Amino acid sequence: MNSNRKPIIAGNWKMYKTAAEALALINGLKGELVGVRDSDVEAVVCPPFTALYAVSTLLQGSSIQLGSQNVHWEKEGAFTGEIAASMLKELGVRYAIVGHSERRQFFGETNEGVNKRARAALASGIRPIVCVGEMLAQREAGQTEAVVRDHVTDGLAGFTKDAMLETVIAYEPVWAIGTGKTATPTQAQEVHAFIRELLAAMFDSSTADKVRIQYGGSVKAANAKELLGQADIDGALVGGVSLDAKGFIKAAL
Ligand code: PGA
Repeated sequence: MNSNRKPIIAGNWKMYKTAAEALALINGLKGELVGVRDSDVEAVVCPPFTALYAVSTLLQGSSIQLGSQNVHWEKEGAFTGEIAASMLKELGVRYAIVGHSERRQFFGETNEGVNKRARAALASGIRPIVCVGEMLAQREAGQTEAVVRDHVTDGLAGFTKDAMLETVIAYEPVWAIGTGKTATPTQAQEVHAFIRELLAAMFDSSTADKVRIQYGGSVKAANAKELLGQADIDGALVGGVSLDAKGFIKAAL
């Protein structure tokens, strides 16, 4: 964490919560946030597409921001099952997760697709949260930096400095997602620092210094403080724990 970068904690609800369940969770979050100063962290929730409208309505006037879990790169068209950035923007979506490892693993997402999705989000005024991270076998084979380098350089290819400043990166080692195994703060910090070096090489050091890099993978109240205490960790992308209002807020604050 660095005082130049406001920490951002985003809850990735994945394929959980109907619209009605989502409203109950948002009411719970709002209750937990009573009396908390807005300026300390930026909190974002990323419900499934089907709950965005309901959640957006309930979040009006709240400091919690709305995010989506994906976004398509075309403005509109014959792309059955996809959602365009303008559709999300209209609902008040401010952030869009792109390139989550579950999209990469189970739905064939590529770095090129991640790049197109992130650019489309930016073009509509939505900030992409670009997910990067190695699988267990890749870490064990000593390929962590090579994999992360590809995710970052190809995922952010062609970005202007201004686009980069609107973008958040989430480093999520795949072996730590939903497994209860967290990267140690030192392991996470090493990769975060590496990502910041890559950004400095791609853009410049002042841009790299301003970009927020979240850690994700089994973040919970018990480990969040130590992770966020690392110099280059500027927040968290929280999965399982974000489905519980108390758990999410405890991890976030
Ligand atoms: P987890 O998920 O917190 O349940 O490990 C994180 C994520 O997938 O973003």
